[in-house]
Amino acid sequence: MRPRRTAVLVDSAPRRVVPRTIGVGSTIAGLGCYLPERVLTNVELAKTVDTTDEWIQRRTGVRERRIAAASEATSDLAYKAARESLRAAGVAATDLDFIVVGTTTPDMVFPSVACLLQKRLGARPVGCLDVSAACSSFVYGLSVAHGAIASGQAETVLVVGAETLSRITNWRDRTTCILFGDCAGAAVLRPARPGHGFLSFCLGGDGSAEEAMCLTAGGSRRPASFETVERGEHYISMKGPDVYQYAVRAIPAAAAEALRRAELGPADVDFVIPHQANIRIIQSSARRLRVPLSKFFINVQRYGNTSAASVPVALYEAVQAGRIEEGRVGVLVTFGAGYTWGACAIRWGGAC
Ligand code: UT7
Repeated sequence: MRPRRTAVLVDSAPRRVVPRTIGVGSTIAGLGCYLPERVLTNVELAKTVDTTDEWIQRRTGVRERRIAAASEATSDLAYKAARESLRAAGVAATDLDFIVVGTTTPDMVFPSVACLLQKRLGARPVGCLDVSAACSSFVYGLSVAHGAIASGQAETVLVVGAETLSRITNWRDRTTCILFGDCAGAAVLRPARPGHGFLSFCLGGDGSAEEAMCLTAGGSRRPASFETVERGEHYISMKGPDVYQYAVRAIPAAAAEALRRAELGPADVDFVIPHQANIRIIQSSARRLRVPLSKFFINVQRYGNTSAASVPVALYEAVQAGRIEEGRVGVLVTFGAGYTWGACAIRWGGAC
């Protein structure tokens, strides 16, 4: 599970470079974001759990995080981000051919958040799918959406990453509650002009360390009961240092593999949108990938780890900040429970 093994796992992915001329390319035509109003600072958190602002900032880079209102579920956050992404892409909800939502915190076990979103947006009765790959879910969702467009099954696809992690966080466990936050980001994918849009994907998973990060109760193995609640098994449980050790290797390895599949190298990269789990993981990934940290967009200090929402929200803010321009080449890369990881290379813009 440790260093050497991670490298082997990522290296053992298919070595064939898929020709980029297969099918229709796709790109991001519009982005949206929703941040719950409530800001929970480290200082405030330190009043309820045995920690300090100094410890949290030094070990994670996080200063504050957003917390969804009691009335807000994941689909509410997703809806607001989705609406903005549709407006930005200049498409109507009725234009959507497929709705994909990445989340670890669906409103309920079923129906999916994607189905709830289809109704709320007023979309046609198109395919609706929730992707469950923990923090990697948004990048997995992009890959599914890209495949649907490339294969001609869809032309306009909505991909959302939305989380209300505050609902599965044990607020008395200082080893986890300092890390997480709530928010949502959304992207509308459309066919791309040749040479633009997604250039490659690299997805990976390793289920051998399921206990490193898990939420054990509420599924078929351990159905929710009075006892599971009493034991706190409906909360995130994490072996932080183990996850950290794996992440600092899997993230740069996945990003490097996505670049290789796009026939690019670190020197070609204009921007990186990494999963925002911990500032030290991002710094280490930059060193290992040999891409300057200045090219990495970082907002973990304001939102903490927002799982599937982390990459789309960071991407949204990077574009808003003018850090990503038409024709620029970048990598989106993520890592999460499972373990799962995912990366893609993209040449920005070029929507048809
Ligand atoms: O999205 C992907 C999923 N998650 C991640 O990527 C998380 C990856 N892991 C991490 O980011 C880090 O492991 C953490 C931030 C979770 C923890 O940082 P660390 O540097 O690995 O700390 P540690 O768990 O090794 O704990 C060091 C010490 C311990 O005390 P002792 O045993 O040395 O006396 C902990 O009890 O820090 C203590 N500690 C805290 N102290 C103050 C743990 N949490 C806290 C806290 N405040 N919140």
